[in-house]
Amino acid sequence: MTNSAAPRAIPVILDVDTGVDDALAILFALAHPGINVLGISCVAGNASLERVVENTLRILDVADAPYIPVAAGARRPLLEPARSAAHVHGEGGLGTLQLPPTDRRAEPISSVELMRKLIVASPHPVTLVGLAPQTNLALLLRQYPDVVSKIERIVFMGGSTTVGNATAVAEFNVWHDPEAAAIVLDSGVPTFMYGLDVFNQVAIPEHVTTALMHSDSDLAHVVGQLLGNRIALGSGRNADYSGLIGDAGALCALVDPGALETAMLPLRVQLSGYGRGQTIVDKRSHPGEDIVHGLVGEWEAAEVALDVDVDRYVHLFLDTLGLGSALALSR
Ligand code: BDR
Ligand code: CA
Repeated sequence: MTNSAAPRAIPVILDVDTGVDDALAILFALAHPGINVLGISCVAGNASLERVVENTLRILDVADAPYIPVAAGARRPLLEPARSAAHVHGEGGLGTLQLPPTDRRAEPISSVELMRKLIVASPHPVTLVGLAPQTNLALLLRQYPDVVSKIERIVFMGGSTTVGNATAVAEFNVWHDPEAAAIVLDSGVPTFMYGLDVFNQVAIPEHVTTALMHSDSDLAHVVGQLLGNRIALGSGRNADYSGLIGDAGALCALVDPGALETAMLPLRVQLSGYGRGQTIVDKRSHPGEDIVHGLVGEWEAAEVALDVDVDRYVHLFLDTLGLGSALALSR
C-alpha cells in the first residue's frame, strides 16, 4: 500500500554533457529517492555528442539503473562550433575513468522529441535539470512552446554572479551556447541558476576521495576516480585536487534547497564582445541610471544561488550514494 502522505519524487529530465561531474550528478539523481529520472537528454559540450551518449549509457550500468531512456541531441551550439573541454574532462569525457562497453542503446529519436514525449506523458509538471550547454533545451522550447505550461521549472548549472571559468567572466555551459541560454531565460519558464558561485565551493575532502578510490566497492571506486580526476589527468592549472561534486550540486539544490542562500534577481546573458557568455546578475537594491533613463529593457528574473552550506551538501552527496562511511572512516 502506498503512503499518500509521503512526498512524491520530483519528476525530472536531465540534460547532460557527460562529463566527469555530469556522471556524478546522474549517479546521485538515480540514488536519491526524492528524484524520479524520467529520461536523459545528451548534448555536445564537455565531449563530442557520441562520447556523451556512450558515457551516459555506461554510467547507467555503473548505477545498475533500470531502463531509462537516453537520447542524443545537438552536436554543436546554435551558432558556434562545438569546443570540447578535454583539458578538464579528458578526451573521452570521463577523465581517466575507463568503463566497460554497455549493451544499452540510445533511443531512435532526438533529445527534443524524447523530452517532449516524456513531458506530455507525465501526469505532473516536469522539472528540467540542465547540466550542460543549453542547446537542447532552447531547441525544445522553440520547437514545442506548448510544453512550457507542463514544465515546473528549469534548474540549471551554469553562469556565475562573479568569476567565470571558460573566460574570466563566463561560465562554460553558458559560454558554449550563449544564445541557447538567452532563449531559455526568456522562455517564460521559471528558472533556477546554480552557478559557479556555489559550484566551485562544494568539494569532497581529498582524504575522503582517496579512501573511495581505494575502496573494494565498484561504486565507491568510480566515484573516487571521478572526484580525483584532476590529480590523475592534470597538468599545469588542472593538476590540483578539486574534489568538486560539480553538476551533482544542482541535484542537491533540487532536493535540499534549504542549504542555499538564494535571491530572485534580474538576469541576462551577454551575447557580444569579450563578455560573451557572461551572466549579468543585477544585485543592486536601487535602480541605477540605466533603468531610470530607460536605457535598458526589462530583464527576466531568475532564482539565483548565492551561497551554500558546503558541509550539508558533502554529507547529502555521500550519504545518498551510500558512501557516508568514507567520511566517517577517514576522520
Ligand atoms: C560546467 O561545465 C562542465 O565542465 C561541467 O560539467 C559543468 O556542467 C562547469 O562550468
Ligand atoms: Ca556538465
